[in-house]
Amino acid sequence: MSQLLEGIKIVQSSNEISWENCVLLSAGTEQASVSTDQASTPYCNNSLVPRLPWRTPTAPERQILFSSKLKKLSDLYVSIMSIPQNILFHLNELGNVEHHTALNYVLQKERVKKGISLIQEHIETFRLQSAELSKYRIGWNEPNQMTVTVGTDRCRVGLHIDNQRGSSLHRISINLGSDPRYFLFINLSIQQLYYLVSQTDGNVVSKTSGSSRICRAFMQLFPNYPVVKLRVDPGQAYIAPTEHITHDGCTEGTNSLDVFFTMRTIFDEPCRV
Ligand SMILES: [Fe+2]
Repeated sequence: MSQLLEGIKIVQSSNEISWENCVLLSAGTEQASVSTDQASTPYCNNSLVPRLPWRTPTAPERQILFSSKLKKLSDLYVSIMSIPQNILFHLNELGNVEHHTALNYVLQKERVKKGISLIQEHIETFRLQSAELSKYRIGWNEPNQMTVTVGTDRCRVGLHIDNQRGSSLHRISINLGSDPRYFLFINLSIQQLYYLVSQTDGNVVSKTSGSSRICRAFMQLFPNYPVVKLRVDPGQAYIAPTEHITHDGCTEGTNSLDVFFTMRTIFDEPCRV
């Protein structure tokens, strides 16, 4: 199966973003090998990553991927938003950090602290006030990695679904570096993956299988299904239900340290963002 199915939409929430040029599709998925991106942190055994080459989506694929608004408020979605310049202005210095050891020093600066508190205030204006709010985290990744998430075994896990924690639905992740970063995802919910896997081979998963088992089984049974690569430019954020879809971050082709702000909560309808 190499054709995209109807599933999770990228909601075009803002007119400022060049939606036409921000998406590529992979040739499918494959097991990571030692030669995959050759970054210093190795892949864990049996990690799955997008299979190259990347290509631009066709017009019918764009129709499947993009939507100007959600059909139902409860639908899962992915979106990108721009952070206002008056906030980013305080955080410019984070984009100049060359090595992660200098990051803590820069984060102690009053100007940067002010920027971080302005980000939190900004998020308050469009999050669901009744929703649980996780503590924010400023993180970093090395440049030029096909996928970035490192697991407890200090190896990269590849495409995955986050463990469910609390009642949060979305993750927001703001690019505070100076290069684009990318959000990789498969545009199908865990329920869709379960259905497709169990229809094809009823022995691979059961109703009690965890989401990691289901997403891995899907990629092994359907290695030609494309992964979406969504570009998130400096000063932009992605919002995505990372506890419900197969995903990872990506810094492929970049030269500078990837710095990001992230937290989990539930956001209001994306059209308001
Ligand atoms: Fe994740």
